[in-house]
Amino acid sequence: MKISAPLVKALNNQISMEANAANAYLSAASWCEVTGYDGAASFFHDQAEEEHQHMLKFVNFVNGQCLGAIIPGTKQPPKTYKSLESICKTALSNEQAVTKAINHMVDLAQKDKDHNTFTFLQFFVNEQIEEEQQFENILQKFNLLGRDKLAIYEIDKLLGSLGTSGSDSEN
Ligand SMILES: [Fe+2]
Ligand SMILES: [Fe+2]
Repeated sequence: MKISAPLVKALNNQISMEANAANAYLSAASWCEVTGYDGAASFFHDQAEEEHQHMLKFVNFVNGQCLGAIIPGTKQPPKTYKSLESICKTALSNEQAVTKAINHMVDLAQKDKDHNTFTFLQFFVNEQIEEEQQFENILQKFNLLGRDKLAIYEIDKLLGSLGTSGSDSEN
């Protein structure tokens, strides 16, 4: 079945969102690295890799339907950050925007009775639940442990422990 034009547009837009997410996490990882947050650096490197895999999933899906995927240019991510907490806050709101975009595509697929695309998108519906929960949990730690040096040290360690054991190693 041919994918409708609005859905093709949304799928290509999603390639761009995932590419920007990968870049934003890489930028966060880089800042954490030079700031001495080793655990967080490794966590955000993993996130960047995961987003890159997401982007490839969309590229492969679009190309698999004999439509040419559009490989996007990416936005310049922030060069510096206020704090580890502010990175996590921005990450949560970016993930919420991605969830919205995914849900919009699910709506379109449903409207089009496009079962193929609908099924493809289910991975991302589940993925976004995990991604949002993950950052909500991390942000909660700042409230529980505090924001002094020792608390940040603990949170950095915790982020390091989330590492590659992350939720969707099946990518
Ligand atoms: Fe993603
Ligand atoms: Fe994500």
